[in-house]
Amino acid sequence: MSIDTHNTLLARIVDDLAEHGWSLQPLFAPQTLTAKLAEECRTRAAQGELTPASIGRGVAQAVIEGVRGDRIDWLEAGQSVACDQYMALLDELRQALNFGLYLGLEDCESHFALYPPGAFYLKHLDRFRDDDRRAVSVVLYLNQDWQPEHGGALRLYLKSGEVRDVSPVAGTLVVFLSAEMPHEVLPTTCDRLSLTGWFRRRGDNPLLSTM
Ligand code: OGA
Ligand code: MN
Repeated sequence: MSIDTHNTLLARIVDDLAEHGWSLQPLFAPQTLTAKLAEECRTRAAQGELTPASIGRGVAQAVIEGVRGDRIDWLEAGQSVACDQYMALLDELRQALNFGLYLGLEDCESHFALYPPGAFYLKHLDRFRDDDRRAVSVVLYLNQDWQPEHGGALRLYLKSGEVRDVSPVAGTLVVFLSAEMPHEVLPTTCDRLSLTGWFRRRGDNPLLSTM
């Protein structure tokens, strides 16, 4: 993708978020990158590095498979070329959001997620009750030949009252305001791979600074 096209895409995400609170970009990441990220997700899974995802934070943290059935592994800088490339793309998006919307986003936390057949994530908001740092959610899908019968759609409950289903097709990026967008992952019938992340504001929550 040329630099011009890429900047247009970032500008479109910023405008979408300002106007609608969410953005859908079917061609955010090239297939060469999503293929490498998918391979890395599968390798991490095969090496037993993915752990059951939990809900809540701190003492309220719990693994409840009846709520979410994915397995996750967090990204850190320097783990692989592909991960670093994706983190660089996210950082450009973070800067564009700060420039366009004055969101004051400080960093991004991001993890691989694998939903095995039968897994789902019930309707929820991404912002934890005791942590308001997560401001913008961002999901990149890594599934090459996803078919409608595989299920696993991300269901978004828009402010307008509309409900939108997004197929987890490789290269598709979904961005939304964490505090305002109820969403769920419908049950999948085959392995569903993604990278989920959150742009976070500075930690000036008085609740957290006393901990
Ligand atoms: C999450 C989540 C959506 C998706 O991890 O909080 O809602 O489509 N993921 O994977
Ligand atoms: Mn979520």
